[in-house]
Amino acid sequence: MRDRNSTNYSANPDDAPIAFIDSGIGGLPYLQWASDHIDRETFVYFADRANFPYGTKSPGEVFSAVSQAVKKLISEVNPKMIVIACNTASVVALAGLRAAFPDIPFVGTVPAIKPAAGLSRTKRIGVLATDRTVRDTYLDNLIERFAADCEVVRIGGPGIVDFVENRLFTSSSAERAAVIADAARHFRERGVDQVVLGCTHFLYVSEELRDQLGSGVELVDSREGVGHRMMELLDGRVGRGSGKGKSRMYLSGPREPEPRYKAFAERFGLELAGTL
Ligand code: DGL
Repeated sequence: MRDRNSTNYSANPDDAPIAFIDSGIGGLPYLQWASDHIDRETFVYFADRANFPYGTKSPGEVFSAVSQAVKKLISEVNPKMIVIACNTASVVALAGLRAAFPDIPFVGTVPAIKPAAGLSRTKRIGVLATDRTVRDTYLDNLIERFAADCEVVRIGGPGIVDFVENRLFTSSSAERAAVIADAARHFRERGVDQVVLGCTHFLYVSEELRDQLGSGVELVDSREGVGHRMMELLDGRVGRGSGKGKSRMYLSGPREPEPRYKAFAERFGLELAGTL
């Protein structure tokens, strides 16, 4: 195990923070789930704003952005575990990250195909994700393994990702409804009864989606799966903390954080600690 004494949190390695990474604010609801269910841990959230969005980049570009983020986090906050709170980064880069940083336990976020297929009565499920994730062979494999008996309708939503990252707080409810309207109509026409939110950004528009999909269609995401995997690691390979640190949010630089990031940090109880 690496020496974590350089951390500014505590000399006790178990008190090192748990880091979350996403291209932007998408992973914050995942951190929220973890902090609601796992006590005495300190969290650090890293929004890789400089490389946003991941979902329209090539696999090589995504891998290089995420490994830079991991390197920065290791040198600046020395986390005891890293949650890749981004489906795109997880399907593209998780295996490579584990090979490149063998000392750090990673938890990935992948589309919740397995629970959705289990819950589906019509055996028709939808996946709303980034362009990269809907095209990735990782998703093909998940479907083959866990949803071979289902028809799977895949929709990429780069416009929704961009909207959530940049305009969520300044938008009207009519604009939020409009941004997901095409996807919702398509899912309704195809008769799916489960929609997998395969991009962490989409949790922010789940109310609008629910309204437009109507009753009988459920939304499924991966927060519980990710949280339970974190708990397993904390009770196994990684020790539990004592809750002494202060949870923070960082952005990738070089620009100073735009005001909306402060609002996001506050909404999730984090201190916006600047750029890395
Ligand atoms: N939040 C990310 C995901 O879960 C990706 C958003 C982006 O395109 O950067 O896939």
